[in-house]
Amino acid sequence: MEFDKKDLFFERIDRRHLELIKSFQCHERELVDFLLEDAYNNQVNKISVTYLFFSQKTKGLVGYLTVLTDAINLNAELKRYFRDKDIHYKSLPALKVGRIAVDDRFARRGIGTRMMDIAIFLAIKIYRETAGCRFITLDAKRGSSAETDSTHFYKKIGFHVLKEREKGTIPMYLDILAKE
Ligand SMILES: CC(C)(COP(=O)(O)OP(=O)(O)OC[C@H]1O[C@@H](n2cnc3c(N)ncnc32)[C@H](O)[C@@H]1OP(=O)(O)O)[C@@H](O)C(=O)NCCC(=O)NCCS
Repeated sequence: MEFDKKDLFFERIDRRHLELIKSFQCHERELVDFLLEDAYNNQVNKISVTYLFFSQKTKGLVGYLTVLTDAINLNAELKRYFRDKDIHYKSLPALKVGRIAVDDRFARRGIGTRMMDIAIFLAIKIYRETAGCRFITLDAKRGSSAETDSTHFYKKIGFHVLKEREKGTIPMYLDILAKE
C-alpha cells in the first residue's frame, strides 16, 4: 500500500529526538547504530546533517536521511559528456546521501522514494541559493537478489552506476539538471 505523501513531515535531528530514535527498527544493524550513535554527534561536529521523517497521523518515526557535501570524480562517459559542453573539470560538486533507511514496518510504501525526492530538493536548493551542486551521489548496498539489491531502488529514481565494482558498495550518481 502506498504511503500518503501528505502524511509525511521531516525535522533536522536535534537533542529532543534522542529518546524517540530508539524506536527505529531496521534489519540493517549498521543503519540503526548510525542513527543512535553517530547521526546527532556528526551533525554537532558539522560532518553530516540528518533529517528524521515522521507520520503526521501517528507522529512516529518512519525513516531518516543523512546528507553531506561531496565531489564526483567524472568517469570516462561523464568526462566526454561535459567536454562536449566545453566543461573540462575532472570532478564536479555534489550532495551525498550518506545514509537512507526506512523503518522495516513501513518499507515498500513509497517512503524511501519520498525521502530521495527531499534529497533532490535539498541539492536544488543549494545551487539556487548557496553554492554549486550538480550531482547527488551515494554508495548503494548490493543484495543477493533483485528484491534486496538497493541499486534497483536508485535506478528507478534515475541514478546511474558511476563505477562497477566486484565487491562492496556501488557508487551511483544522479545529474540533478535532469530533475528540474
Ligand atoms: C532501500 C530503502 C531506503 C527503500 O525505501 P522504501 O520506502 O522501502 O522504498 P519504496 O517503497 O519507495 O520503493 C520504490 C521501489 O524500489 C524498490 N525497492 C525498495 N527497496 C528495495 C531494495 N532494498 N532492493 C530492491 N528494490 C527495492 C521497491 O520495490 C519499489 O519498486 P516497485 O515500485 O517496482 O515495487 C528501504 O527499503 C530501506 O531502508 N532498506 C534498508 C536499508 C537500506 O538498504 N538502505 C539503503 C542503503 S544504500
